[in-house]
Parts: sequence; C-alpha cells; structure tokens
Amino acid sequence: MSQRTLVLLKPDAVRRGLVGEILGRIEKKAGWTISALELRQLEREVLEQHYAEHVGKPFYEPLVEFMASGPAVALVVEGERVIEGVRALAGPTDPIAAAPGSIRGDFGTIVRENLIHASDSAESAEREIKIFFPGLA
Ligand code: PPS
Repeated sequence: MSQRTLVLLKPDAVRRGLVGEILGRIEKKAGWTISALELRQLEREVLEQHYAEHVGKPFYEPLVEFMASGPAVALVVEGERVIEGVRALAGPTDPIAAAPGSIRGDFGTIVRENLIHASDSAESAEREIKIFFPGLA
C-alpha cells in the first residue's frame, strides 16, 4: 500500500550533522522516494499548527521552543507502508528506550532532542503535509 508521510529532521539532527545519515537510511529503503525536501527555520506559527493536539501538555512549550531553536529539514516520503516504516526506523519517543539500530536508539539520549518526527497516521500525514508543503496536492 503506497502512502506518504511528513518527516522532520529536528534542529538537533541538523546541528549535529546527522541529516545525511538519517536521509540515507530513509533513501535506502526499497521503493521509497523523497518527493519534497526543504531546510528551513520553523516559525512558531507553523509549529503551533503542527503540535496543536499537544497544547496544554507539560512538554508542549519546551518542544515548540526546541523545534524553533535552529533550522530543521522537512520532507515528504512516499512508498510502501511508509508511515509505519519511518516510525519504525525512528524508534520510540524516548531514545534511551529505543533499540540500537533505530535512529533514536543510535543517536539520541534526551527525549526532547529525539532527532526526527514522522506522521503517525494517514490522516496526520495529510494534515501535516498541508502545513509544511501547502503547494503539494
Ligand atoms: S503523546 O502525549 O503520547 O501523544 O506524546 P508523544 O506521541 O510521545 O509525543 C508527542 C510529541 O511530543 C514530543 N515529546 C516531548 N518533547 C519534549 N519533551 C518531552 N518530555 C516530550 N515527550 C514527548 C515527542 O517527541 C513528539 O514530538 P514529535 O515531533 O511528534 O516526535
């Protein structure tokens, strides 16, 4: 089942020079294609839309602040079961609980600085793609 998903390489990934490493893991999956990609400073307004469901949670403010702390890479990936697949490559939210071999498990230690976001469902993916790439159909 071909799908598309919205992925963010967070400011820690850019600062630490891990963009190539992470993009390489995504690109190497059979049949997956990066169909949009942009390095950009994420404005607070965009982040507030993106994280709207988390307003009021204790991690919300620190998360938005962190995501605006430097440039991030936004991309759209298309391909077979890509929504579940990128989340599997990423590993769980807490990098210490993430298995070695996953992006968070290999490179992360701090929950807030967990390197990558990937849409969690087809509905989220369409909503998030519209926020970051409004020009994409
Ligand atoms: S929830 O409440 O189960 O929906 O939360 P979860 O899916 O685990 O996380 C939602 C996003 O918030 C980030 N997060 C945090 N950021 C900073 N500090 C803490 N403690 C924290 N806990 C969760 C988490 O990485 C998710 O962001 P994205 O960008 O989707 O990865």
